[in-house]
Amino acid sequence: MKPQPVTPLADAVETAVVDAVRRALPDVGGTEPLVRRSDFADFQSNAALPLAKRVGRAPRDLAGPVAESLESADLIADTEVSGPGFVNITLTETAIWDQVAARVAQTSLGLNTPLAGQTIVIDYSGPNIAKEMHVGHLRTTIIGDALARLGEQLGATVIRQNHLGDWGTQFGMLIQYLLEHPEAEWHDVDGDDPTANIAALAVLYRQAQGVFNDDEAFANRARRRVVDLQSGDTETLGVWRDLVEVSTAAFAAIYDRLGVGLTDADNDGESRYNPELPDVVDDLVEAGIAVESDGALCVFFEEFKGPDGNPVPMILRKADGGFGYSATDMATLRHRIRDLKADQILYVVDARQSLHFKQVFAAARRAGWLTDDVDAVHVPFGTVLGPDGRPFKTRSGKTVRLMDLLDDAVAKAGEVIAEKNPDIDPAELATLAAATGIGAVKYADLSTSRVKDYMFDTEQMVALTGDTGVYLQYAHTRVAAILRKAVEAGHSVDGTVDSSLPMSTMERQLSLHLDGYDALLAETMALREPHRLTGYLYALAKAFTGFYEANPVLKAETDGSRTNRLALVRLTQETLRHGLSILGIVAPERM
Ligand code: ARG
Repeated sequence: MKPQPVTPLADAVETAVVDAVRRALPDVGGTEPLVRRSDFADFQSNAALPLAKRVGRAPRDLAGPVAESLESADLIADTEVSGPGFVNITLTETAIWDQVAARVAQTSLGLNTPLAGQTIVIDYSGPNIAKEMHVGHLRTTIIGDALARLGEQLGATVIRQNHLGDWGTQFGMLIQYLLEHPEAEWHDVDGDDPTANIAALAVLYRQAQGVFNDDEAFANRARRRVVDLQSGDTETLGVWRDLVEVSTAAFAAIYDRLGVGLTDADNDGESRYNPELPDVVDDLVEAGIAVESDGALCVFFEEFKGPDGNPVPMILRKADGGFGYSATDMATLRHRIRDLKADQILYVVDARQSLHFKQVFAAARRAGWLTDDVDAVHVPFGTVLGPDGRPFKTRSGKTVRLMDLLDDAVAKAGEVIAEKNPDIDPAELATLAAATGIGAVKYADLSTSRVKDYMFDTEQMVALTGDTGVYLQYAHTRVAAILRKAVEAGHSVDGTVDSSLPMSTMERQLSLHLDGYDALLAETMALREPHRLTGYLYALAKAFTGFYEANPVLKAETDGSRTNRLALVRLTQETLRHGLSILGIVAPERM
């Protein structure tokens, strides 16, 4: 069955307000009212305020007739004018119960797909070849993955692009060193763990750097190797390919551990753009955008100034003829606009690269590649800090290995679960520990306002209480348990609703919160802020607790009331599970 979208109550109310304005105030012209949830009623509309301004009358004078006219609608039980001219709107219990029924009856909650027909390119992860992924890459990977899932949920065609750092002069030095040290071990260093190969490569890289600095002859051979790499010399390319393969296998192990759906098909590394760079740069020279300066080719901007107040140029080609990161990103942008026909292009990259993206977008605008039809956005995120509040390092000052970090989170989550469930079967514990440990890492990242720095504290992440992934997973299992018990007791949980029954305050609050999920998803994507979704789910878990404490489900006063409440329980479970899956977090049935 193809899911049928359900119109959210907020939208139905909005339509009703538009109609009421037309009926009650035929001479003021149309309105686009803002309807939002309110503490004083179910919804509140401010429609009268902009209208009053337009016709020069008091808002309350207009709000009155609108409120009266609204009361005639089926959906609405009561209205009231409040404050400077707001209309408070209370819905009928029937309309709310019907909405619950309509959503449970749908396979995917009756969600709408407002981005259908759009193509969204999401550039995320982007680790560097021959280097270990670090905590910053963890953030872009987790945020990018959530935005990709969300975009797809909203109906868009999402193209994932993993812009690997797989090209550049640094590889000349490493390849030269590896060719001169055939005994060096960087394959199958640890049979079980492909990321160990990169750890070994990182050591070799540092050694190569040391020799490069001390030994002029080696430095010259390394420089020649760069030329060999660029001209496609077979032996050189062979080692390079090997480096790419070993590195991407390690990245894949991390993606796999995280449950992130990036594959080799999503790779869109710097090397891929290398052959296009002369053409990209020529285009910019011809358009008069790129100019020579001290032998380098640059784009100058009046608007972007450095700390010293002088404009900072974007360097496309260095004086030695080498193209840089900026030239490559001009190429990624052109490709994504011209060939992938993207409507939105999101670069999920560290906030410290914000000047780079401002310059790339501004240059592309000047070149006419980037027009108002395309939304190119840098989606920045803050730095990951250690528990001491400083950029995350090990105690000895080394960068923390990502796999170790994930292992640690899984181990700690395992302890928390074992403590709650001393008799749990070891195999089940292992599965649950993985789901909750990884979920905790993702949730901690996603629930922090994206642009803020955030503190990586495994102990806190796996806590059972507070705004954590484990808490939400646990909330989900509690809701699932109620449904299981209901089935055991012989009750139907198929979501039938008798909409003529009265509705309690808590039932009402939970229902309205559940119905707001649709709009919340669209808003989360529009702002590219996953923490909106985590906040919504956390509030949902709280609203459910409030409901469940006040309204017995299995021991409800009447059969009808129990059935209605079970429909709400089911809708809550499905919404929690759905939201967690958008965040890339597993929702276990029990833990
Ligand atoms: N490799 C870069 C880094 O590690 C990230 C690439 C981001 N994507 C881009 N199109 N620039 O910082």
